[in-house]
Amino acid sequence: MPLDIVVGAQWGDEGKGRVVDLLSESSTLVARYNGGDNAGHTVTVGEKIYKLHLIPSGIIHTNTIGVLGSGMVLNLETLVEESAMLRAAGVSITPERLWISDAVQLITPAHRLLDSVQDSALGAAKIGTTGRGIGPAYVDKVSRHGLRAGEILDLEAFAARVRAHFAEVDHILTDWYHQPGLDTETLLKEYLSCAAELRPYIRRIGPLVQSAIQKGQTVLAEGAQGTLLDVEQGTYPFVTSSCTTATGVFSGLGLGVQPVRSVVGVMKAFQTRVGAGPFPTELQGESAAFLRGSGANPWDEYGTTTGRPRRVGWLDLVLLKYAHEVNAFSELFLTKLDVLSGLNEIPVCVAYQRGGKKMDTLDFSGDARLLAQCTPVYETLPGWQAKLGACRNWTDLPKEAQAYIQFIEAKIGVPVRTISVGPERSAMIRRS
Ligand code: IMP
Repeated sequence: MPLDIVVGAQWGDEGKGRVVDLLSESSTLVARYNGGDNAGHTVTVGEKIYKLHLIPSGIIHTNTIGVLGSGMVLNLETLVEESAMLRAAGVSITPERLWISDAVQLITPAHRLLDSVQDSALGAAKIGTTGRGIGPAYVDKVSRHGLRAGEILDLEAFAARVRAHFAEVDHILTDWYHQPGLDTETLLKEYLSCAAELRPYIRRIGPLVQSAIQKGQTVLAEGAQGTLLDVEQGTYPFVTSSCTTATGVFSGLGLGVQPVRSVVGVMKAFQTRVGAGPFPTELQGESAAFLRGSGANPWDEYGTTTGRPRRVGWLDLVLLKYAHEVNAFSELFLTKLDVLSGLNEIPVCVAYQRGGKKMDTLDFSGDARLLAQCTPVYETLPGWQAKLGACRNWTDLPKEAQAYIQFIEAKIGVPVRTISVGPERSAMIRRS
């Protein structure tokens, strides 16, 4: 069955855009099933760099249809802007090529304001959200008074619902948080104008995706964020508010459980994290600066959405094993191996010490409080000096780089099928 799922195996920013771009060449539908414009996927095609937050990055291929599934939260303004940016770059965005689920929840400017105010109010305990309104929009969804895209089809009734929502948030902002209120009429006008523009794109998605699968067309489900940010299985409470793991695909696209052809876990050759929360292998100082890069290149470790420097650290195989446990990866896609060139030795975390006990698998579900008590146990592998950017075959890699990959495979029990060694589309090695 041609359903392929691409999932981040760490804390997001693993380079999923690359993988999706590659797999989209042979896909008909490319679908996002979780999250919103907190995500940022960078795709480099020749001279052009596309930074996408909402529209699945596979849309850049002319053979695909982009799908925004019901598990997402959709900022209408971002979607209008992103569509215009893609059109200006020559990518066709029409209701035939982009489908929005009628059940997708909407993010409003009021959710965005609330997100920043509420996260700041947590003080030292703050999560460090992207400020995109993700949490408040999902809160409205589960408390059952969220706005859904399908409501836009009756614009008059929709306007009344948005007005009531603005009034409610205005009340929370002013009375509870003592913040300035909303400029409701201006916000409403802009919001409704975006809604009207996107109206022709709204559809019931589930049957369309199901029918594509039945016809043998390939459906690529593109996960946003990463496993460790999953609201249930991630490092709670330092997580996002959606289901980022492979299992979110079915509810997030309104699809019955289907046989899956592949679950591709995308992992970096080291570990990164944006925002707060425990990070056992985190580095500071020179080693951190080495892994992060200077910021001069778009692929250095600075957030695509917020521009924040990412926290960096050595590869953590205890967490990768956990990610495999909750996703059942059929293969791994390893990115940024080239960044490790120049190190004499490379520590890899293979176990944790906690309370006098050594463990090589997590004996709890993500829980940030427990993870914060874990100290990494490293094995040190030999590094390599050669630059990898020109490698295109397994045999082009230095034997130490091959050994690094084989070490990961042996510990996780999943083959590393693809390795990326540079930002360009062609800079990768496929293994049979
Ligand atoms: P939120 O998703 O904006 O609510 O943020 C919650 C946490 O998830 C914060 O630590 C964010 O930095 C993190 N986060 C959200 N989206 C991404 C992403 O696309 N990449 C990496 N981290 C993310």
